[in-house]
Amino acid sequence: MEQYIIKGGTPLHGEVVIGGAKNAALGILAAAIMTDETVTIENLPNVWDINVVLQAISDIGAYVNRIGKHEVKINSSKIQNSAIDYENIRKIRASYYLLGALLGKYKKAHVTLPGGCNIGSRPIDQHIKGFEALGAEVKIEHGMIIAEAERLIGNHIYLDMASVGATINITLAACMAEGKTIIENAAKEPHVVDVANFLNSMGANIKGAGTDVIRIKGVNKLHASEYSIIPDQIEAGTFMLAAAATKGDVLIHAVIPKHLEAITAKLVEMGCYVEEFDDAIRVINTQGKRLGHTHVKTLTYPGFPTDMQPQISTLLALSEGTSVVTESIFENRFKYVDELSRMGAKIKVEGNTAIIDGVEKFTGAVVSAPDLRAGAALVTAGLAAEGFTTVDHIEYIERGYEEFEKKMSRLGASMIKTDVEDEKAVQRFRLKVG
Ligand code: EPZ
Repeated sequence: MEQYIIKGGTPLHGEVVIGGAKNAALGILAAAIMTDETVTIENLPNVWDINVVLQAISDIGAYVNRIGKHEVKINSSKIQNSAIDYENIRKIRASYYLLGALLGKYKKAHVTLPGGCNIGSRPIDQHIKGFEALGAEVKIEHGMIIAEAERLIGNHIYLDMASVGATINITLAACMAEGKTIIENAAKEPHVVDVANFLNSMGANIKGAGTDVIRIKGVNKLHASEYSIIPDQIEAGTFMLAAAATKGDVLIHAVIPKHLEAITAKLVEMGCYVEEFDDAIRVINTQGKRLGHTHVKTLTYPGFPTDMQPQISTLLALSEGTSVVTESIFENRFKYVDELSRMGAKIKVEGNTAIIDGVEKFTGAVVSAPDLRAGAALVTAGLAAEGFTTVDHIEYIERGYEEFEKKMSRLGASMIKTDVEDEKAVQRFRLKVG
């Protein structure tokens, strides 16, 4: 098992380049198996979740040719098997996209029930409702979801909540169904739009992605495509807030500033300086005084993203005054609060609300990442804290952040990744950074 060791207190300074969006890539890789022709996907993030999906599609017969770290060619003409169940795929949430993709193309799919970050109960009833509306029979047996249909026929589907996963999954199945499908109350997140754009580049006919009504005309066949994935909004947001928390000045390249507006608006409200460029954003917090408090409620896009909630709470815990953060998407996304308290944060959680009394500083401690984004927030806290912080269970962080410690180090952070058993590496690091 590996851990990060951080010596905090150094403001982040410099430039960082953001990778492709993990949550778009997961949908796009599933979509890629819906054609027998070769697709080329660029700007693919090299993170654990992505590699698990590549392994899963390779296991069922797709030819996966990894060209460098960030590009892959996939040819799925030899897929024989529509059953996906291996140990790692059970741990990721996005395994469910393979269900929509296999059902759309082969009219049958057997996929293990999804796992993913433990941030509360994560039902998939809306996905199943959508598949059934298209004519599939869906059952759960021995931990597997089995979806089968003689024919898939377009339908009008109203989602009870604007679920990202259900919107993408139903889009995948419907784009090869017969006739028209309308998804109402669809999710509008940038990765929903990116998956739809990719499918359209393969010959699908999807209109309205990015609004709350998506209209899909089914096609018989999808074809080859070359596609570059959009930048990761959450990776970019994480660096924005880390720059602010460490009182730094960071220019973040390869972003779509429009996707970051909710985060930018909160930083500006708190008194931080943010400058937007065409495909870059700069966060400057070097004026010496603490940022102010604000209130945040997580919402679906274009509201404040739940995937940035732990990071903004961490920043607010270092800001002046009392802030209230309300989590309205997931029921159990404050598990990092106890860890942050070990570093001196004053946060009280009541139901889905955190009341945060800002403190002047954090002090380093040994903390454990409870999930992906909370892990990133604890790293941010460690970078801002006085003294040494150890963050363990970084396997969660590596599910979604590529070379996190390297990118932070290039911005001046004192941070290493070591094996938890490697005491010598820890000592060497402590001696080096004092
Ligand atoms: C996606 O999860 C992301 N994961 C999550 O990112 C992200 O937090 C979330 O969307 C919200 O933006 C991937 O894209 C792989 P939802 P997903 O369906 O699709 C309820 C990260 O850190 N719901 O939009 O699972 C659900 O319980 C991860 O990168 C149902 O009740 O999210 C939740 O309360 C974590 N029934 C809400 O809707 C359903 O059938 C939103 O979930 C589906 C969802």
